[in-house]
Amino acid sequence: VVDIRKFYAQTDRFTYDPGFTSTASCDSGLTFIDGDKGMLLHRGYPIDQLAEKSSFMEVSYLLLDGELPNKAQLDEFEYTINRHTMVHEQLKTLYNGFRRDAHPMAIMCGVVGALSAFYHDSTDINDPEQRRIASHRLIAKMPTLAAMAYKYSIGQPFLYPDNNLSYAGNFLRMTFGVPAEDYVVDPVIERAMDRIFILHADHEQNASTSTVRLAGSSGANPFACIAAGIACLWGPAHGGANEAALNMLREIGTVDRIPEYIARAKDKNDPFRLMGFGHRVYKNYDPRAKVMAQTATEVLDKLGVSDPVFDVARKLEEIALNDPYFIEKKLYPNVDFYSGIILSAIGFPTTMFTALFALARTVGWVAQWNEMISDPAQKIGRPRQLYTGPTQRDYVPVDKR
Ligand code: ACO
Repeated sequence: VVDIRKFYAQTDRFTYDPGFTSTASCDSGLTFIDGDKGMLLHRGYPIDQLAEKSSFMEVSYLLLDGELPNKAQLDEFEYTINRHTMVHEQLKTLYNGFRRDAHPMAIMCGVVGALSAFYHDSTDINDPEQRRIASHRLIAKMPTLAAMAYKYSIGQPFLYPDNNLSYAGNFLRMTFGVPAEDYVVDPVIERAMDRIFILHADHEQNASTSTVRLAGSSGANPFACIAAGIACLWGPAHGGANEAALNMLREIGTVDRIPEYIARAKDKNDPFRLMGFGHRVYKNYDPRAKVMAQTATEVLDKLGVSDPVFDVARKLEEIALNDPYFIEKKLYPNVDFYSGIILSAIGFPTTMFTALFALARTVGWVAQWNEMISDPAQKIGRPRQLYTGPTQRDYVPVDKR
């Protein structure tokens, strides 16, 4: 009889690290984060420079191919992505199977997983060309699929992509345009949308990216792996935080109610947390939140929107950053704190926020997935566990229990 308690005492083969707070699950050349310095680099380039100077298509190329593209490479990449923006006509019928009030993330989990049933010619993970096509398909089709989820929820017809527009502009038109009218893309909103996509493009081994890698490590096809990532992203502790953050700010409503919520966040008997605050890695501001706050100002100014929720957010940040609890625990606004305010001002309902995050993160997911599959040392992900159940014992017949 094996004494299971002794098994763990005698073995040195296990590292117990719940939540993987200090265990690297892979090596990667994509993204570097120094949480103490509030630094985020993609292939060496700081996120604030990319957000200010580049485009989401450039950043996508950078993540996938390793270097920023020259003009000809960028043109070709954009042309290739544009060629894949359409989805199979029959995929449209899948949407009709959902209730109109279905959460867009429920729809996205389903339709992205279903892509593997439509694009059989890009599911062989051992063929680099098929992997490349699958990656391009996923990046190109996500805006179409997300816009369709929105259109379905409000009972409007789907709009086909217009490939003369930019990636962000095309998405805005498919979301807010109607067939009977011309939709003119506002350049300030288009730029803000593109910047939001850049800020969400990749973030090393967060929960959803790790999910994509783990799913992919078994050899599952890329569409199934990205669907797994979408499912993980949905949670309020991860991608769902932008929706939860705006709901919280709206619930607070006015600046005078902030202290009540700060007190609740500090009360260990209350499960309430300030949504959009805190990060597993950043312990000195999330650099994406800075760009997001700036973008929120630009978008609200451009749209002439005076949103009291923005005042609540700025005041909440100010109060929290001067509060000993938040200082001691190094809790700062994260990327989700301001993004909801921008998305809401543009016209997105809160339920679409996480779907937009999934859209933008798709390039990071596929780049990480490709990196993993291309690595000759790649193995199936198979963590161990520390067993805490009963030690070995003999079966007792039911009439003797
Ligand atoms: N409000 C109040 N207290 C908090 C918050 C918060 N938002 N976040 C962490 N804390 C406290 C915890 O209660 C804990 O206190 P304790 O030491 O007294 O027990 C301490 O800070 C450490 O928190 P952990 O949960 O252990 O930190 P972890 O790294 O596991 O969690 C997380 C990070 C999940 C992001 C957390 O800060 C959180 O729940 N934030 C709110 C949700 C959110 O905004 N998520 C988005 C993350 S970014 C992204 O996915 C894009």
